[in-house]
Amino acid sequence: MENSKNMKALVLSGGKGTRLRPLTYTGAKQLVPIANRPILSYVFDNIAKVGIKEVGVIISPETGAEVKETIGDGSKWGISIEYILQSEPKGLAHAVLIAQDFLGDDPFVMYLGDNLIGCGIEKFVDTFHTTKADAVILLKPVDNPQAFGVAQADSTGKIICLEEKPREPKSNLALVGVYIFSNEIHKSIARIKPSPRGELEITDAIQNLITVGKPVHSHVLDTWWLDTGKKDDLLAANTVVLDEWFKRNIAGSVDSASQITGRVTVEAGAVVRNSTLRGPIVIGSGSIVEDSFIGPFTSIGSDTKITKSIIEHCVILNGAEISHIDRLEDSLIGRKAKVNKCHHKHEALRLMIGDDSVVEV
Ligand code: G1P
Repeated sequence: MENSKNMKALVLSGGKGTRLRPLTYTGAKQLVPIANRPILSYVFDNIAKVGIKEVGVIISPETGAEVKETIGDGSKWGISIEYILQSEPKGLAHAVLIAQDFLGDDPFVMYLGDNLIGCGIEKFVDTFHTTKADAVILLKPVDNPQAFGVAQADSTGKIICLEEKPREPKSNLALVGVYIFSNEIHKSIARIKPSPRGELEITDAIQNLITVGKPVHSHVLDTWWLDTGKKDDLLAANTVVLDEWFKRNIAGSVDSASQITGRVTVEAGAVVRNSTLRGPIVIGSGSIVEDSFIGPFTSIGSDTKITKSIIEHCVILNGAEISHIDRLEDSLIGRKAKVNKCHHKHEALRLMIGDDSVVEV
């Protein structure tokens, strides 16, 4: 896009990822794979598609190294990435504050690295340019507005006020984690104080733009939006991405005793023997699937081993092993986790489960 020439992007990929414990005790929530690609990959896809070349990525001391290692210098997307360390989680507006040297006076897209939307951001960038607004925000009706920034709009769509995680929300319109700002936002951030949760909220900074009379435009998102912090959201995101964006691609080896129906991706280096695969599903490189049924909306990461099991609507992360499980559904299995049926004389559950895990028997 021609008009994104001076525009930069700021991607927020910090935090401790507490909302997806225990998966993100050690890993960044923005790297949790959706259809075998880290959520952040979809964020950079969208940023690159509008022609933005310079991207700042906010990282935290806890997960920064892993983010850097996975994403690299951005050349995969034809963008250049500058990593910016936020040493404490002091809020989204604080992240903008510490990125000021990188951002300069240029307009920028701010993108929360754990947000996934069902469309590109071209339209929103266009709105920013044509309306000459100081902020463009995206809104989406949700059932639990208390968990988000909430906007109140008048009948023409003009924003009246914004509140961060209000106990009594004035509407069901949540703020999606994709924003476009002019350099006016820096002045607003300088004017706000930390919220009751002790953070400098971007929601308060946008409210401040409105208070001082600066133009703020909103779009109500007409595609899906998944804020992927929780297990059910993550499974839902996986389902939608597999359903809408995946094609059939059998690059790995599948023997003649196996049956494949629908949009199935078997990555190069994966091996499937005597199994039924019913798409949409993806099986990552180095994985072995034997004598099993893998049903729709399942993502299986790399180097996993699935033996004599029936699996449907699951996300299985790299290195996990599942064997002799009659039916595994709606589940999220962490890296290198093992789920086996044991053949001891007396039947019993034998578990070694990490902190904050959930087991339904
Ligand atoms: C943040 C924002 C909130 C927004 C949400 C979208 O919340 O503060 O306004 O609705 O992202 O994902 P947090 O992730 O800090 O809970």
